Amino acid sequence: MEIKKLALVTGVSREMGLGFEVARQLAGEGFRVIVSARERDRVVPLSIKLKNEGLDVVPVVLDILDESSINNAAWEIESRYGKLDSLVNNAGGFYDGGGTPLSQTFEYARKALETNLFGTWRVIKSFLSLLEKSDNPSVVNVSSGAGSFGDPDFGLIAKGDITAYGISKLALNGLTVKFAAELKERGVKVNAVCPGFTATYPGTEAWGARPVYEGAKCIVWAATLPKDGPTGGFFRDGKLLPW
Ligand SMILES: NC(=O)c1ccc[n+]([C@@H]2O[C@H](COP(=O)([O-])OP(=O)(O)OC[C@H]3O[C@@H](n4cnc5c(N)ncnc54)[C@H](OP(=O)(O)O)[C@@H]3O)[C@@H](O)[C@H]2O)c1
Repeated sequence: MEIKKLALVTGVSREMGLGFEVARQLAGEGFRVIVSARERDRVVPLSIKLKNEGLDVVPVVLDILDESSINNAAWEIESRYGKLDSLVNNAGGFYDGGGTPLSQTFEYARKALETNLFGTWRVIKSFLSLLEKSDNPSVVNVSSGAGSFGDPDFGLIAKGDITAYGISKLALNGLTVKFAAELKERGVKVNAVCPGFTATYPGTEAWGARPVYEGAKCIVWAATLPKDGPTGGFFRDGKLLPW
């Protein structure tokens, strides 16, 4: 009997968030999806909601800043399933409050790097041995055009704010490339995806944010790449983005 494909999505704490919709779409594609968040009281009701839609979803507690929480989640998944096919590093934080390089406080800048870079880094390291038990493992780092030199609206060359966030996503893209190079021979694909400006908070559609379904779709694309699919790229809607 074929073992069902298994995906882990981090940062599933809000129904409006990308993580929730990514989990829904992955489960719709036949995955058993482990949804995770740092608070059990938030992830469990969301997993029940998806289960009530007939989807194969299980909750786990995972705080990407807490090594023991990551290890506990990895141990739980290892002992229950013995492998992981897709890891979606969706958890992240936006700590800027509109900070420019001059006005940004180091407290927020550190938090952005701690979560978006080091948190993701820790998660990949801790789940690597489980990913290597899959016959088609894929890691997706949910990044942002804010960390790109080529995005004229939100990117690094745009004047002014979202400094800490942009730099943390630039670093996440760098981490993606380094992991992809190291893991290519081992058959693990590692890609970064920008979902585009997505309406995960009320009122953002009015500023041009696109539906959560669409942002999630391009993350799911990268999580479900075929064995010979690309690695070490930065994508939106299945198309390469400039770094
Ligand atoms: N929405 C956009 O326009 C957009 C554009 C480009 C990229 N992105 C990226 O997409 C991802 C999802 O964003 P979103 O818009 O859906 O907003 P969101 O709901 O705020 O998503 C962030 C998620 O990360 C979780 N998180 C933060 N720190 C964590 C930690 N230490 N451990 C575990 N989970 C943690 C948050 O959980 P808590 O509720 O516990 O804080 C939340 O569930 C983020 O990486 C974001 O940078 C979003």
